Amino acid sequence: MQKRVLSGVQPTGSLHIGNWLGAIKNWVELQDTHETFVCVVDLHAITVPHDPKSLAENTISTAAIYIACGMDPKKCSIFVQSQIAAHAELCWLLNCVTPLNWMERMIQFKEKSKKQGENVSVGLLNYPILMAADILLYDADLVPVGEDQKQHLELARDIAQQRINSVFSKDGSPILKVPNPLIIKEGAKVMSLVDAKNKMSKSDPIESSRINLLDSPDIITKKIKRAKTDSIVGLEFDNPNRPEANNLLTLYSILSGQEKKAVIKECSEMGWGTFKPLLAEAAVEAIKPIQQNYQELIQDRGEIFSILNDGKAKANEVAQLTLERVYSELGFLRKSTH
Ligand code: TRP
Repeated sequence: MQKRVLSGVQPTGSLHIGNWLGAIKNWVELQDTHETFVCVVDLHAITVPHDPKSLAENTISTAAIYIACGMDPKKCSIFVQSQIAAHAELCWLLNCVTPLNWMERMIQFKEKSKKQGENVSVGLLNYPILMAADILLYDADLVPVGEDQKQHLELARDIAQQRINSVFSKDGSPILKVPNPLIIKEGAKVMSLVDAKNKMSKSDPIESSRINLLDSPDIITKKIKRAKTDSIVGLEFDNPNRPEANNLLTLYSILSGQEKKAVIKECSEMGWGTFKPLLAEAAVEAIKPIQQNYQELIQDRGEIFSILNDGKAKANEVAQLTLERVYSELGFLRKSTH
């Protein structure tokens, strides 16, 4: 039997090159060898204030980008998180067994709540429990995520193992499968173009900090031209004092499909003024097929809805089984058991 993979991205703002290289590109490879579920995590998108006018549109567009990047509905299941009620239901069950202090020490919660000031919702605190529910519902073996999600993965493992299996299993057999993270190192972390110490992020208020997958060639070229650099002559990887050089060279290596060694040979003597147009061209070329696929697809809403409906049916089947198992092991009165 194939191992199962689950992952997702939030439908907030537009997806960028970091989402592609750090997440979606890996899913595309995994779908050939794994039973793959990918969702648009719209319930997560409302853990910070959101605009109801754009949520549905962003959800459709995010799903279309998955497909445009190569997720093939014949090989995987693509669905919308909020359309599977089991996510919210399992989240509630897990909320009730997870200690509050596990949640308060989540790094991403601390960082995000600092930014939110007075307006932090309980949902933001619970965010990682909902993510645990996403994963555990599908008995996922592997969860491909960026490095920043590692702590959330640990939490999902701890909840499954320490708070469900070891407390509620009557015969020692696991109720929930304990998932493993799949952290893809190379390119897993594309950094901001304006501050290479921070990850490229959808929520960064500085638009030029990221290259969106739907940016025009002109915008991409401008953003790269403006990207922060240093005044040192020559380019190199892995110099801790030159995070920008490392980030932009790594991007170039991935986007142009060349090994680091080849990139060093080509670029080590270059100044930024010569290198940046090269990088811009590589980025434009790499993204072009995605944009073409996207433009075609987004004009055919019926096709997208039909893909999402199929995904929903396949996801629901798996999720319901797990949810029923947990309800019944926790002692709930279920139609099927009484
Ligand atoms: N928190 C993840 C992120 O920001 C998104 C996410 C939600 C996710 N649920 C998930 C990722 C389940 C993997 C599996 O990247």
